[in-house]
Amino acid sequence: MDWGMSNRLSRIFSPKDGRAVMLAVDHGYFLGAISKLEEPRKTITPLIPYVDSLMLTRGVLRNCVDPQNNIPVVLRVSGGNSILKEDLSDEEVTVSIEDALRLNVSAVALSVYLGTEHEHQTLIALARLVNEAENYGMPVLAVTAVGKELEKRDAKFLSTASRIAAEMGARIVKTYYCEDFEKVVNSCPVPIVIAGGPKMKNEYDVLDTTYSAISRGAKGVDMGRNIWQSRWPIAMISAVRSIVHEGVNTDAAFALFNKLKDKS
Ligand code: R5P
Repeated sequence: MDWGMSNRLSRIFSPKDGRAVMLAVDHGYFLGAISKLEEPRKTITPLIPYVDSLMLTRGVLRNCVDPQNNIPVVLRVSGGNSILKEDLSDEEVTVSIEDALRLNVSAVALSVYLGTEHEHQTLIALARLVNEAENYGMPVLAVTAVGKELEKRDAKFLSTASRIAAEMGARIVKTYYCEDFEKVVNSCPVPIVIAGGPKMKNEYDVLDTTYSAISRGAKGVDMGRNIWQSRWPIAMISAVRSIVHEGVNTDAAFALFNKLKDKS
């Protein structure tokens, strides 16, 4: 592997344990100003010390994150859709590789929509992005998005989507936790990180999902709403981090969450 690619990947996955705590704050690219992300700077700034990297758009990066921060960035480079339309799968590449390099990012991220009308379009966009990004040692993260079709979140669908994304050249795949998650991990030859999805009813469930995913082979998380829509985002990210990097179980992470929550 080229030095640049290797260096960028090591900024996302800790060289100590090969794992990653990514904070996803890219939701506005199709959802607009969703709850707790109305003012991105206010949400993001206090969490930066607790995460390994940020996943976000160039607009939020340029306007809401100080460039003096040495936080690695995974730049969302796909879009063109919005929650105002029924179909969320109609995405294309929205950012040039030159702008990604100008922003000094550590990876670029794009969604693929398997099983939708725009499957072909989004897979070809992934392939083209990989063709360009590899020239510069830039890892591509593929998001196996399911959008509104949440019923598809099973091992068969997610392993198919993840495997195809890896076959197209993605260096990292982001998917969802599901039953029989080992099947998703074992059939995907590149590291998998999990999204959290919509905010869960309680923090224990988020931590249990994290623990289940990590203990079944995920290399980290790329979570958003279940962190920053919590009343206690710093306690949440700290507890998630303890699972990813310290290998603690759900109960220990939940105890840490409660301890930190009481102090905040
Ligand atoms: C969705 O496509 C966005 O890329 C989010 O980054 C992703 O869903 C992860 O965020 P959350 O944990 O809130 O689902």
